[in-house]
Amino acid sequence: MSTGLHSAAVHRPSRLRGTIAIPGDKSISHRALILNALARGRAHIDGFLDAADTRSTLACLRALGAHIEPASAGAVVVHGAGRASLHEPEDVLDCGNSGTTMRLLTGALAGLPMFAVLTGDASLRRRPMDRIVQPLRALGAELSGRADGRLPPLVVRGGALRGGQRIESRVASAQVKSSILLAALAADGPTTVVEPEQSRDHTERMLRAMGAGVTIDGGTVTLTPPAGDLRAVDVTVPGDISTAAPWIVAATLHPDAELLLTGVGVNPTRTGLLDILWSMGAAIELLEERESGGEPVADLLVRSAALHGVEVGGALVPRAIDELPLVALAGALASGETLIRDAAELRVKESDRVATTAEMLRAFGVTVEERPDGMRVRGGASLRGAAVGSSGDHRLAMLGAVAALLAEGETAIDDSGAVAVSYPDFWRELARLGGVQESLRG
Ligand code: S3P
Repeated sequence: MSTGLHSAAVHRPSRLRGTIAIPGDKSISHRALILNALARGRAHIDGFLDAADTRSTLACLRALGAHIEPASAGAVVVHGAGRASLHEPEDVLDCGNSGTTMRLLTGALAGLPMFAVLTGDASLRRRPMDRIVQPLRALGAELSGRADGRLPPLVVRGGALRGGQRIESRVASAQVKSSILLAALAADGPTTVVEPEQSRDHTERMLRAMGAGVTIDGGTVTLTPPAGDLRAVDVTVPGDISTAAPWIVAATLHPDAELLLTGVGVNPTRTGLLDILWSMGAAIELLEERESGGEPVADLLVRSAALHGVEVGGALVPRAIDELPLVALAGALASGETLIRDAAELRVKESDRVATTAEMLRAFGVTVEERPDGMRVRGGASLRGAAVGSSGDHRLAMLGAVAALLAEGETAIDDSGAVAVSYPDFWRELARLGGVQESLRG
């Protein structure tokens, strides 16, 4: 998302200490809206993430006739009246910067008898959609899109779908898996989705709680649609570990740091960053481990630590996919070398995150070798402040901010407003921690 509005000036504070309440999980917030809009009954969603991406989902669902209203203290209430209550949208559905919105809604629409067109911003219109178009066609949906169905805008003419199929995804992607599972709700029998490595399982957990039959065996999920509509469920959204990630990495790498991050979701399909940092020597403690709304939650206490380089690949990659740019930064300040492989998916995120991460780290003085499926980072770097840009990518804006907290001298981050996609309060929190000198307009 390119807000074009702000530039942030960030410097290294002498100490990094404090407590941060981590905002709601983006993936779970999207799912709580979409699944409850398809369900029957009233659902209260507590801890809902109010950010640009989840607002895109909310607006699209309203355009489809869903009744969603704000409740107290940032919560929302979805009044589900079943799948059949949703109607054909009068206009194009704008998914903004959000791949999750486009891919999950396309799956849901594939099983609904209506015509819909989905588009998004310039970044989203560059992202691959054949990964959902092909499997949804295999279930019997009529779909087309720009570049022979590879790129948005997408056109969906949904309807009854064929069950009894086994769909193999080439990529470990929860967006692809969830898109297929949402379509499979409208199939006339069970559907199996197989992915090369297991991706995040929030959709499966929620579908199960709503009365669908879901069995999981590693990277294989089988959904048996419920006899009628899904049952609405109240959701307490845990804090987003991907939102906590910049703080986790900043506190680990800063020489005088201790941060307490509260209410963080620690679903094992999302905690790859913790496993990677522990293997590098990090001092991260999980406190008050508990369960909330079908998801494991903990407070994280993170202290400064000296790290050594690692090799990251295989099943760890989908468990840390949005955190890999931060892993590259950790590698730059670790001893030895860090290699990230099997991560070609990074190239098709909100930006090409292999290229944009390498470019940003180089600006801070790091030696990085780009590879087709990841990067090799030379450790032992001394970061120096730089003028960098977010490339309109929220995770890159936050990567730049964390690097700036660790660098000698001042850093200017252009298009810093991109953080609004997932973490609108990011710069305020950073200022509270003493890292932002000024925020400029222009
Ligand atoms: C998401 C899944 C991931 C992740 C994205 C959110 C989701 O994408 O990068 O930020 O909510 O399902 P992929 O599943 O395509 O890797």
